[in-house]
Amino acid sequence: MANKNKEKLVDVKNLKTYFYTEEGVVKAVDGIDFEIYPGETLGIVGESGCGKSVTSLSIMGLVESPPGKIAEGEILFEGIDLTKLSQAEMRKIRGNEISMIFQEPMTSLNPVYTIGDQISEAIIIHKGLSKKEAMKESVEMLKKVGIPLPEQRINEYPHQLSGGMRQRVMIAMALSCDPKLLIADEPTTALDVTIQAQILELMNSLKASYGMSIMMITHDLGVIAEISDRVAVMYAGKIVEYTDVNTLFADPKHPYTWGLMNSIPKLDRDVNRLQAIPGIVPNPLNFPDGCKFNTRCPLAEGKCFTDEPKIVDAAEGHKVRCWRYKDLEEMKKQNVKIYEEQR
Ligand SMILES: Nc1ncnc2c1ncn2[C@@H]1O[C@H](COP(=O)(O)OP(=O)(O)OP(=O)(O)O)[C@@H](O)[C@H]1O
Ligand code: SF4
Ligand SMILES: [Mg+2]
Repeated sequence: MANKNKEKLVDVKNLKTYFYTEEGVVKAVDGIDFEIYPGETLGIVGESGCGKSVTSLSIMGLVESPPGKIAEGEILFEGIDLTKLSQAEMRKIRGNEISMIFQEPMTSLNPVYTIGDQISEAIIIHKGLSKKEAMKESVEMLKKVGIPLPEQRINEYPHQLSGGMRQRVMIAMALSCDPKLLIADEPTTALDVTIQAQILELMNSLKASYGMSIMMITHDLGVIAEISDRVAVMYAGKIVEYTDVNTLFADPKHPYTWGLMNSIPKLDRDVNRLQAIPGIVPNPLNFPDGCKFNTRCPLAEGKCFTDEPKIVDAAEGHKVRCWRYKDLEEMKKQNVKIYEEQR
């Protein structure tokens, strides 16, 4: 892989983030390993509840505690284990070295302050500029994220902007401190497809000019294809496949990834025939024995119901967690469809 010789910016090792609830322990993130290199975009994809947001909140030091806790593992950021830092030390890292944008900007923008006030406040805190200088820089930031008439826009309130414009403002705020890592949790899900494409394009171009790394969280493989260099596919708190984006699409080795691929809308297909993976995600309080995907996997047999597979190197730079990935390879060669097309 291209980045192999670079030093890791982020190195997550055996991360376990659990929630200790009255009903039992929710193993939201249950032993994941991944790394992010300088300047790359790592995509994290999986269905609702698989642990994507908890992974990002763990890195940000924002897991709600109690009931949540990092039960085990390390999150090395430039070699420093973030799980060992105090709240005060973490606050310094957040918004300086690492910043985050969320799915719905209205929840993170303050409705009673103007756009200019909010961006400039971030700039004042992180760069120590005067109010006047910070306002000037806010205008520059708004220009960079493609907001027309920025001198006018800085005096407006969040509700006066469209969803796409608000998301651009969030990106401007997140970038105002020049972070080394930008975590984006479903930043385009609330937007329509055209605006979504514009925001992804914007993030790609900003990444090139700022040289930061991005961790992009999404349930949408289309978004992954647009923006990622490498991808971690998550299911039930674990990474089930991990490789570079081209390999993932050309040669998915996990039955779950294969199912997700089937669910990408194809232009020549009737929307009603969109294939989703049949069945539901198991309840985290009551995961099945063996492989956690066995309740939905068309290839599940024998050992899959008793022993959980470990993640292994199926090829160089391509990890997969499945007892039967070699069988799946054979099936693909023979063009066997493992998921029925829905009508
Ligand atoms: N505060 C909490 N208390 C108890 N369980 C929680 C808490 N926060 C998250 N969880 C559980 O952790 C698991 C992972 O949640 P997470 O929010 O990371 O999912 P996700 O992959 O981001 O899903 P989505 O695509 O819906 O955003 C879920 O089972 C969720 O119910
Ligand atoms: S281990 Fe078995 S149940 Fe799990 S994904 Fe592989 S074939 Fe399916
Ligand atoms: Mg989430």
